[in-house]
Amino acid sequence: MPADSLPIIRVAYESGVFKPQAEALAEKLCMPVQVDTEGYDYLLEFTEQGLVLRPSPDKGYGSIICDFAGSEHSHRRRHGGGNGQAIAKAVGVSGKFAPQVLDLTAGLGGDGFVLASLGCRVSMLERNPVVHSLLDDGLRRGLEAGQEEFTQGDDELAAIMGRLSLNEGSAASYLSQLVESLIKAEADPQAEVWRPDVVYVDPMFPLRKKSAKVKKQMQAFHAIVGNDPDADQLLADALTVARYRVVVKRPAGAGFLAESKPNYSLEGKSTRYDVYALKKLPI
Ligand SMILES: C[S@@+](CC[C@H](N)C(=O)[O-])C[C@H]1O[C@@H](n2cnc3c(N)ncnc32)[C@H](O)[C@@H]1O
Repeated sequence: MPADSLPIIRVAYESGVFKPQAEALAEKLCMPVQVDTEGYDYLLEFTEQGLVLRPSPDKGYGSIICDFAGSEHSHRRRHGGGNGQAIAKAVGVSGKFAPQVLDLTAGLGGDGFVLASLGCRVSMLERNPVVHSLLDDGLRRGLEAGQEEFTQGDDELAAIMGRLSLNEGSAASYLSQLVESLIKAEADPQAEVWRPDVVYVDPMFPLRKKSAKVKKQMQAFHAIVGNDPDADQLLADALTVARYRVVVKRPAGAGFLAESKPNYSLEGKSTRYDVYALKKLPI
């Protein structure tokens, strides 16, 4: 694939039972269903495990699946450090308060899941249709795994999944509609408009060329999503709709979103959380 052309993505299915789902997704995404074994860059394949994004073998990238019941998420949930984690402190989670979070850049839901596992209700937005499909499938399977009757399920997982919701669309238009509703509500004291306690933003950032450690999965994710050059535009409206704060996740050493200095930052080894504080947290 030439560097500047769009990847060829097709929908596929492992066995005939998945054919109807594959055809429905193909129609929604305006993509063909794959019939031969060549001529694609990525397959969105329905499998027994769930919906998988499979790069063509020549790429050397890893496959992507969203698996909230899997070992990586379970380990983070049990041994990740709870409210002591930088993301928890940045968002303002404590034993007494778990904010309602609007995650404008859901991706594969990793940060949303961590926040939900700490007790936050998280409304996620994702605009990339392929990423949205993977996350949507992961949320559905995560909920099923939590509620599984025969294996007695996992009540904690079911509760976490119940705190996560997902919408497909652009954060910029969602925010501008919310700003408009809030302005209208100011003139009408009867009107009730939901607003998030915290707005969370984690835009794509160019992969560091020298980083051999970048997971193979991340390479495929970056190839599908690209960068988010419009991310700066989200900050002003995010600050208008958030009740208490806006948190922006950046790679360590990166500039500030919209070149706007936060009130403070929490630094990790490879990640930084910039906190734009609007009001003291309630507790
Ligand atoms: C770096 S990833 C987020 C990773 C996520 N925090 C996680 O833990 O999995 C950024 C994601 O935000 C999405 N995104 C970026 N800008 C957006 C926007 N304006 N509206 C909706 N989604 C957006 C991208 O498509 C991408 O999937």
